[in-house]
Amino acid sequence: METNPVLETMLNHKSVRRYTQEKPGDEVIESLIRAAQQAPFASQLYSVLLSRKAKLPFRAPLLFTICVDIYKLELFMGRRGWERVSNDLGMLFFGIQDASLMAQNMVTAGESLGLGSCFLGSTPYRAERIKKEYKLPDGVFPLVQLTMGYPAEEFPPRPRYPLAFTLFEDEYKITDEMLTEAMRAMDEGYLAQGYYEKQKARIKLQGEREETFTYENYSWTEHISRKWGQWLKDPQELLDQLKKCGLEW
Ligand SMILES: Cc1cc2nc3c(=O)[nH]c(=O)nc-3n(C[C@H](O)[C@H](O)[C@H](O)COP(=O)(O)O)c2cc1C
Repeated sequence: METNPVLETMLNHKSVRRYTQEKPGDEVIESLIRAAQQAPFASQLYSVLLSRKAKLPFRAPLLFTICVDIYKLELFMGRRGWERVSNDLGMLFFGIQDASLMAQNMVTAGESLGLGSCFLGSTPYRAERIKKEYKLPDGVFPLVQLTMGYPAEEFPPRPRYPLAFTLFEDEYKITDEMLTEAMRAMDEGYLAQGYYEKQKARIKLQGEREETFTYENYSWTEHISRKWGQWLKDPQELLDQLKKCGLEW
């Protein structure tokens, strides 16, 4: 495999949930936002909110909220005498594409400066609260939050699927053996780090299923199955949050 400093930074990525209390300076923040902004974009449909208040998640010194932002676009379209006719759902998808690329660039830029970070995926479900806190206008939707600071923990990178389970040339094909190998790589990798045990992050079973797992064998594929086999059945909660932020279809 090829290697260079950029690839090394990317291959060494890990989500950090423990931080020192050293506060990254304004210049550091400016550098990482500028680098992140240089991500490719469809329409720059994002804004980033920053909080340096006390009591942030994981006791991080910085909390960024990356938002899909359709409001800014409409401001200058108005000046040009245009009104948006593109539907909110389509705009939301383009916004998610733009915002996600810039968010990941923030992670990589941060890591190149010695910073660690961790995304918080429940952000869209707290959109209304965030909208009030930051006084967001309609058309701005909090997509994902990112805690950031200097790492106070050291551990190896987490596993990923084998390449053959990720990259399909010309034809998409998954065999039983490939599935077994992918599950093994993920589960053994996370177990070797004691990942779920350290975080006490075992998801409780709801309903009839009997608990047969301990932290000895509870790992990624069981965790992710419990998540998406039990949570978020009804789309209404998310649709309500989008509506509160002025997005509807
Ligand atoms: C969109 C997204 C949402 C995430 N949400 C959370 C979260 O709410 N809490 C958390 O502790 N980690 C969260 N993570 C971090 C993942 O758990 C982590 O990226 C994954 O386990 C792989 O580990 P690594 O980033 O250290 O390689 C999130 C990551 C992404 C990309």
